[in-house]
This record gives sequence, C-alpha cells and structure tokens, in this order.
Amino acid sequence: MRMYDIINKKKRGRQLSEEEINFLVEGYTKGEIPDYQMSALMMAICFQGMDEQETLHLTLAMRDSGEVLDLSAIQGIKVDKHSTGGVGDKTSLVLTPMVAALGIPVAKMSGRGLGHTGGTIDKLECFPGFSTALTTEQFYENVNRIKVAIMGQTVNLAPADKKLYALRDVTATVDQISLIASSIMSKKLAANADAIVLDVKTGNGAFMKTEEEAFALAKEMVQIGMGSGKQMAAVVTDMDQPLGNAVGNSLEVKEAILSLNGLGPQDFMEVVYALGIEMVLAADKAKTAEEARVLLEQTIHSKAALDKFAEFIETQGGDKRYVYQPELLPVGSIQLQVMNTEEGFVSRILAEEIGLASLALGGGRLTKDSEVDLSVGVLLNKKRGEIVHSGEALATIFANNMEKAKEAYGRIVRAYEIRQQPVAEVAMVKGIIRNGIRQ
Ligand code: URA
Repeated sequence: MRMYDIINKKKRGRQLSEEEINFLVEGYTKGEIPDYQMSALMMAICFQGMDEQETLHLTLAMRDSGEVLDLSAIQGIKVDKHSTGGVGDKTSLVLTPMVAALGIPVAKMSGRGLGHTGGTIDKLECFPGFSTALTTEQFYENVNRIKVAIMGQTVNLAPADKKLYALRDVTATVDQISLIASSIMSKKLAANADAIVLDVKTGNGAFMKTEEEAFALAKEMVQIGMGSGKQMAAVVTDMDQPLGNAVGNSLEVKEAILSLNGLGPQDFMEVVYALGIEMVLAADKAKTAEEARVLLEQTIHSKAALDKFAEFIETQGGDKRYVYQPELLPVGSIQLQVMNTEEGFVSRILAEEIGLASLALGGGRLTKDSEVDLSVGVLLNKKRGEIVHSGEALATIFANNMEKAKEAYGRIVRAYEIRQQPVAEVAMVKGIIRNGIRQ
C-alpha cells in the first residue's frame, strides 16, 4: 500500500477502505509517513469529506493507536461528559458531583486550557494540593469508592490524534466536521466509559459558529459512539455569550461553589441540568427527563452535591476547606470596573473577546508551557437581555498588572453590544440528540 495512492484516491472523492485508514494511521504514528503526505491527505479530506464508515474507521484506528482504558474494575454504568469548549464553561465542576451524588460512577478524563477557552484541570488546581495525576488503579479505586474521579491525560490515549491534531492546527485543516468528530471521539472511546454525554457549543465563542454546523458535529459524534457500542447523547448549547458570569479559574470555581449552594446563574444551571438529565438517563437512574431533573435538583437542595464535591477534592489531595470557605480562593489584587457609556439592552457579549481578555490577564495559556495565573479573570455584571444605564459597570476585571488590565478593558468594551430595543430571550439548549434520535 502506498500513501501516494491513498492521497490520490481521496483527492478524487473516493471512499478510503478500513485497511487504508489503518495503514495511514499506523504509519503516521510510527513516523513512517511524513508530515507533508499527511497534510496533503488532510487537505483532500477538507475538500472531499469522509462518509460515516470512513469517519468511524479513522476514529477507531486513532483510539487503538494508544492505551484503551479498561473500566471493568468499576461497578455500574460509567458515564463521561465532554464539552467542545467554551468561555466560562465550569459545567464539569458542578455536574460531576451532582451526578456522583446520585450514585452514578463518573470516570472522567480532563484537559488543561489552551487559547481562550479554559480547562477543568486548571480550575481544579485552585484547590491547594489537588492533583489529577492519578494512576489508573487510583482512578478506578476512587470511582468505586466515592463515584467520581477526574484524571489528567497521564496515560497515552490516542497518540495518533495528538500528532495529527498538531499537524492540522498548522495546516488550516482543523475545521472539518468529520475530522473534529473523529479527533474528539478517539479520545473519548479510549477513555472507554459506557455512556458519553457531549456538550456541543454553538455561537461566536465556539468552534461551531452556527447551529447547523453544531448539529452536524453532534450527529457525527453520536453516530461514531453508537457505532462502537456506546450509549450516546449530545446537547447543543449556546456559546454566543460566556456561560454564567465568571470567566477565569478561581472566579469560575467560586461560581461553581455558589451553584452547588443553589445560587448558580440561570443560563449556566440550564446547561448543567440539560447535560445532567442525559447522564442520569444513560445510567438508567430515571425513566423520564422530568424524573431525572427532580433527582438532580435534590442533590443541590440537600447539599449532597456540595459535600460530594468536597469529598472529591479531598480524595485527590486538595484542601476541602476552600469548598466551604470559597473566600479563601485567590483573587487578583487589582479590581477594575468596565463602565458602560450608553443606555440600552445588552444584545450580545462576544464570548471569544471575553476569553481573550482573561487570556490577556494571564488566566490562560498561549502555549502548552505557559504559566497560568489562577487569580485573574472577568466577572460579568450584565448579561444578554439586561437593561444597562450609562455609568453602570458592565463587568469587573480581576488582575495583578495594570497594563494587562487595560488591555482586557478594551477587549471587554468591544465584546459588549448594546441595542436600543429589548432583546428576545435566547434558548440555552438548542436541541438534544439521544441515541441517534433528535428530541
Ligand atoms: N478538539 C479536539 O480534540 N479535536 C479537534 O479536532 C477539535 C477540537
């Protein structure tokens, strides 16, 4: 088999066979196929696409390029949750203890943030001592004992995807739906939970700018998961403004703790409940969405989810006092209010600009090795639909450096769109695909 023939075949729009896909993934992972040939193939896929079979074969070949976790040591239906990435997305911090408090095992792999979107691991590291560097044995043991564990990518999951994603990133071949679907799902399938719930974001702060693209991605990922025997659900949610009010690591952790105390922002909690319902249904703990929602609400009202979160933080080495006294969490020494200059209604808050403001403050990573300042970020005082008067604060910046705060200020001003007319309410949940069926 020759890579040249495979590239040529895809260039002409023909279907690649399972053998050809296995050959190219294996060859590329081992370094036998050079970057220039793989780049040519990725570009051919961008123009010609891949069908369902090809996408599944590519995903499975990438999954099998590294370790596939064996979760059989964990009792019950294991559920995992994945978000395609957004600004202010602290969903996992609230959702995982809620679900675990219902006795559902949550075995989750998480990543660090890169660029303008934050990562769950960085947020969790706001708790002194907390570590996601678990061995697989500790991971299984923790899930069995307390029903939740979050592990960083300490095992070699889907190395083919890692190499290929780095190549796509520099060859303008990231934004092809089948390539994104196979990339995300190869890692999820290697993490090997029984049920996977996907939060597919749509809007200006998301990968998928339109609902149509987001549904197409959701559908492909659900198909891949079902094709490999997993229970699957995807919820398409709004990312046309940041989720909740807090953006930045410790600010987001504080908001997560507020949410676990029943004081979460409404837009954020809507997404948490929508995803939680899918996790509860997948784990067979409820028969209907309504029943699942009641169970989830009870974990908040009874503080069972808050206590589960504290238990989880402590089990992974963190200081659980911070859960009950969030005022201990670090906050930037400079607080600067972003003032509004016109009367009207907030019609949009460009999520990407807010994410970039937090990045400019030092709250994110420009490269994989950047240091993150956990104490900085942006608190949005006004969200979409709210009335604003001249002289009111739109947002508060938390910084440790005035120059950086000023740069963030400019971005936040640009992010806010103010209109004279009232703004219609926007649904946070655009739709759900449950086991292949649009709800
Ligand atoms: N996230 C991934 O893991 N892969 C992609 O291709 C895009 C986003």
